[in-house]
Amino acid sequence: MLELGTLVIYGLAFGIPVIYLTARHFLSSRPPLPAPQTTTEAPKKLKSIMQAPREDLAPPKDDPYTTEELKKYDGSTPGLPIYVAIKGTIFDVSAKADVYGPGKSYNIFAGKDGSKGLGMSSLKPEHAVADYSGLDEKDRKVLEDWHSFFA
Ligand code: HEM
Repeated sequence: MLELGTLVIYGLAFGIPVIYLTARHFLSSRPPLPAPQTTTEAPKKLKSIMQAPREDLAPPKDDPYTTEELKKYDGSTPGLPIYVAIKGTIFDVSAKADVYGPGKSYNIFAGKDGSKGLGMSSLKPEHAVADYSGLDEKDRKVLEDWHSFFA
């Protein structure tokens, strides 16, 4: 037979931790779960590597150029603007002489309409021509995207 004193000691030894843990379980204040995210905002667009649209452009003009006239604007004459034509629209790219200037990566499109090459994502001189009638639907879409980008 266990003595009353021993029973009390065992009782306290097991009872107190059990009571403590039970109390902690029920009384603990857990941090509230974050509220579900509801938003009406449009999903953020991925940052493009392309430059942001410019706000500092002159309004469009309506003066036609012949292919021969356009050649002058290939960046080879200091002081003259640099032009790139896409599907017949001429864009002034003088501000980007670092890519369209002589010897630069995209100079192949300067002073001409190189629509076909843009549609084909090609930098080959033989592709940088205005006649894009041979492009398939996918390349025409690429060309259209370039036109929008330049516009
Ligand atoms: C290894 C392949 C290529 C790389 C890494 C590359 C990279 C780039 C980058 C980083 C830009 C943005 C430049 C800027 O906005 O300042 C750019 C613009 C451009 N890329 Fe490429 N490119 C590649 C091939 C081509 C090809 C094959 C074409 C032919 C169609 C092309 C045509 C252009 C044009 C027209 C622009 C617009 C430049 C502007 O006016 O800002 N690229 N490229």
